[in-house]
Amino acid sequence: MSQSSSIFPLRLENIQVRKRGNVLLNDISFSLVGNLTTVVMGPNGSGKTTLMRLMHGLERPRQGSLNWAITSEQARSKQSFVFQTPIMMRRRVDENLYYPLKLVATPKQETDLLVNHWLSATGLANKAKLPAQFLSGGERQKLAIARAMITKPQVLFLDEPTTNLDGQSTREIEALLRKVKPDGTCIVLSTHDLGQAKRLAEQVVFLNKGHLCEVSDAPQFFQKPQSSAAQLYLDGDIVE
Ligand SMILES: Nc1ncnc2c1ncn2[C@@H]1O[C@H](COP(=O)(O)OP(=O)(O)O)[C@@H](O)[C@H]1O
Ligand SMILES: [Mg+2]
Repeated sequence: MSQSSSIFPLRLENIQVRKRGNVLLNDISFSLVGNLTTVVMGPNGSGKTTLMRLMHGLERPRQGSLNWAITSEQARSKQSFVFQTPIMMRRRVDENLYYPLKLVATPKQETDLLVNHWLSATGLANKAKLPAQFLSGGERQKLAIARAMITKPQVLFLDEPTTNLDGQSTREIEALLRKVKPDGTCIVLSTHDLGQAKRLAEQVVFLNKGHLCEVSDAPQFFQKPQSSAAQLYLDGDIVE
C-alpha cells in the first residue's frame, strides 16, 4: 500500500484468447489510461468476463501482448477483482475485512481504522460480528467490494456485480462505487445492464462475439455509437 507509481496505462495489442479450441477473444487492441470509469458492455457470451479476467491476469493470451506501466507482478498487487457471485470466507463479516490487510502486514491502528471505515461505508457495522454466510446477496456483494477496496488498489475490476440483485441492492452498490473514485481507484466494470452502464460509465468498451467493436467516451457512445452492433444493442435489438 505504499505511495507508488501508477500502473496505468494498460495497453492491449492484438490479443487472442482461446479455450478448448474456441476463440473467446480475437484481435483486441486498446489502452486504458486510468482516469475514467470504464464499462465493458456487450451481449451475453460476447467475452466480457474473459476480457476482465485477462486484464486481471487470470487468463493468458494465446497471441498478442498486455502490458501495464509496471511489471505484471507489481501491477497485480495493485488490482482487485470482484466476481459476479462473491465468495465469502466462512468467518465473521469483520474478519473478511481484516484478512486482506493482514496479508499485506498493515499496522494494527490503521487496520482498525480501515475496517471501521468500510463497515460504515457498506452499512454493515451492525452485522460485523455475524458469520458472513448470514448476509443477503446484496450485503455479500457490498462486503466483497469493501474487501477488494480496503487495500486501496489502483484498479477495481467488477464483473457484472449486480446481475443477481434487486433494485435496492443495486442502488446501494452503485452509490458505494461512486464513493470509490475520489479515493483514486479506477473502476472497470462489466455489465449487460444498459441502465447501469448509463449511470456509471465515463468510457465504454463494447464487445460482440469476442471482437472489440469500439472504445468510446460514454456520452458519445450512448448518443451515437460508432459500430452497428452497438447501435443494435442500444436499440434493444438482438445483436447477431
Ligand atoms: N472455459 C471456457 N471454455 C470454452 N468456452 C468458454 C469458456 N468460458 C467461456 N466460454 C465461451 O466464451 C464466450 C465468452 O464468454 P464470457 O467471457 O463469459 O462472455 P460474457 O461475460 O460476455 O457473457 C462464450 O461463448 C462462452 O460460452
Ligand atoms: Mg460474464
